[in-house]
Amino acid sequence: MKLVLGGNQYWYKVLLGRRDARTASKDAANANLPPPFFNFSQLITNFQSHGLNLKDLVVLSGAHTIGFAKCSTFRDRIYNDTNIDNDFAANLRNTCPRIGGDTNLVPFDSTPTKVDTTYYKGLLYKKGLLQSDQELYKGDGSQSDRYVKLYSKNSYAFAKDFGVSMIKMGNLKPLTGRKGEIRCNCRKVNNY
Ligand code: HEM
Repeated sequence: MKLVLGGNQYWYKVLLGRRDARTASKDAANANLPPPFFNFSQLITNFQSHGLNLKDLVVLSGAHTIGFAKCSTFRDRIYNDTNIDNDFAANLRNTCPRIGGDTNLVPFDSTPTKVDTTYYKGLLYKKGLLQSDQELYKGDGSQSDRYVKLYSKNSYAFAKDFGVSMIKMGNLKPLTGRKGEIRCNCRKVNNY
């Protein structure tokens, strides 16, 4: 699979035929997905409960190299967090007021339509948008810090490790036997 938003190094082979559910539950998803205000140990515990390790956490968070987040997901960080660049926070407060504007969108990094290492570079300067992003880099020389530094300057390491962790995540608890279905179009359930 080619990640068309990135350069040539961003591709990985995917396995075909994963069985998918025919229904989805927001509550069930939220019971498993970590919220954006989780701290480092909460993130690790959550990932470990799914068989994912620190490296998976850091490299998969790199998916935030693309896309946007709503004001409501990072408001607390820009008004109350200290581990954030001052100018960065002040600027975000223009788009995300204390009250209202919950659905206003802000890009995760300055190149939100491009798969690159800008997300990790931002973390080095305390410019992670979500608290969960910045938790990965504290500047205390931890193993997590070392992964962030590596991926910030080595796009090949990011590309390679991202693919490995995506396959690992994709193999979590697949439906088997007659449960669920293999989708013809991965965006929607089959209609028969
Ligand atoms: C580490 C824990 C994670 C947390 C706390 C987290 C949280 C969030 C939040 C709050 C948003 C914004 C949603 C919104 O405002 O509607 C978001 C967006 C996004 N997340 Fe994560 N995420 C995490 C990990 C991941 C992983 C593992 C991936 C994929 C491998 C991922 C891919 C994305 C993408 C692509 C977007 C942008 C969506 C868009 O712009 O439409 N995230 N995430």
